[in-house]
Amino acid sequence: MEANGYVAALDIGTSEIKLVVGELLGGTLNILAEGCAPSAGVKRGAVVDIDKTVQAIKQAVEHAEAALGDQVRSVYVAIEGEHIQIAPCHGIASVKREDQEITDADVIEVINSAQVMRLPDEMSVIDVIPSSFTVDQQTGVVDPRGMLGYRLEMHGKMVTGSKTILHSIRRSIERAGLKLDGFVLGNLALGMSAASVDEIDLGIGLIDIGHEKTTVSVFYRGDLVYSYILPVGGDHMTRDLVYKLNCKYQDAKVAKEEYGLALEEMADATEGFSFTNINGEVAYEPQAEISYVLEARIEEMFTLVLNRVQKVGVPALSGGYLLCGGAAALPGIQELATRVMGQKTRLYQPSSIGVRHPKYATAVGVLKYVLMSDHHVSKQNLEKPEEREVVSSTTKTDRQPDAGDEYDSTERESKNGFGRLMEKLFGV
Ligand SMILES: Nc1ncnc2c1ncn2[C@@H]1O[C@H](COP(=O)(O)OP(=O)(O)OP(=O)(O)O)[C@@H](O)[C@H]1O
Ligand SMILES: [Mg+2]
Repeated sequence: MEANGYVAALDIGTSEIKLVVGELLGGTLNILAEGCAPSAGVKRGAVVDIDKTVQAIKQAVEHAEAALGDQVRSVYVAIEGEHIQIAPCHGIASVKREDQEITDADVIEVINSAQVMRLPDEMSVIDVIPSSFTVDQQTGVVDPRGMLGYRLEMHGKMVTGSKTILHSIRRSIERAGLKLDGFVLGNLALGMSAASVDEIDLGIGLIDIGHEKTTVSVFYRGDLVYSYILPVGGDHMTRDLVYKLNCKYQDAKVAKEEYGLALEEMADATEGFSFTNINGEVAYEPQAEISYVLEARIEEMFTLVLNRVQKVGVPALSGGYLLCGGAAALPGIQELATRVMGQKTRLYQPSSIGVRHPKYATAVGVLKYVLMSDHHVSKQNLEKPEEREVVSSTTKTDRQPDAGDEYDSTERESKNGFGRLMEKLFGV
């Protein structure tokens, strides 16, 4: 967090690095600056070339600083990818004050105590997210501060990730001259800030269509219950057009982004893309043909997503679906998703000028998440992972749940509690 109260969030994507800087003004998110730079050296959420990533981060920071008129010194970073695991966790602490009133310090201590887990050597803790607290015998407490008690318990989840991947990201941030404020689980932050508490309670699917991957997240009964990464995204759409148009990648990208639609039937018969093909010949492709290719690819993607979501075990996603990520900017994609998924679907893109594009959804989601919870305050008081004692083992929870194991009564109670906690923190 910057000294003057604003916060910066960074999304290290495969095609672009997105940085947004914002502050809270009267409880509302105010975006102050954004920076975007072509990414090189990143593959599906993992840094594969630190030097190239550092250059791209610096470029995004310079853009943002020009708009901000100030230096960006530290960032929260969105974390995603197959290496992420989410496990239930539990902490216990004795209340410190003699009058037994629970304070911020007790909450921080109980959260820290939950991090006393035995992790595989290659994994490290990214975040601990409380779902509910127990004060002595009283369960289901949303915020224990100010209550009286002797014993405080926390039930929640712990997010862990690959040490190697986190290290490369951390190193890239530091070498770009920035301080790392913390890692934030990108799809969780995005869902919690883009969907309403009711939608998260009823069930909602978040589909983030990026460059090389599509991240599918299911929220139900107040919680993130399932995440899945489909290794298909906007890059595959562009490559389909490279074959169809027999052109260079960059021309196919222009065809997609400037003329493409996700529904062929929406095409304008007078619209089309003029280009020079790979043989050096002048060529023309009608919008309908470009869109036909895109529609086929996207329809297949949504069908794969639907098959996955149907196996999650959530009875019905009454909240429907939210679409975001750069490729969700294709006109008609909302209509196509509604048809394939059989549920109402809406596009999520931040509303502020400068970030009004679905590619900014994750960076803005992280910004909102850290600003509207007191995450950025409490994180600074958490112990560093290296300082943690290690004693029991985690289980992977981002798997497909077996019938009945995901929604037992205790889980349900804590998930509703988490929803209420978020409602309190986000005020929605
Ligand atoms: N207007 C547009 N129409 C169609 N596609 C678009 C448009 N704008 C951006 N895209 C596509 O969106 C993709 C990039 O989206 P995004 O920035 O969300 O991905 P990323 O975060 O870099 O990648 P990933 O999440 O896979 O790591 C690119 O394939 C790009 O071509
Ligand atoms: Mg992305």
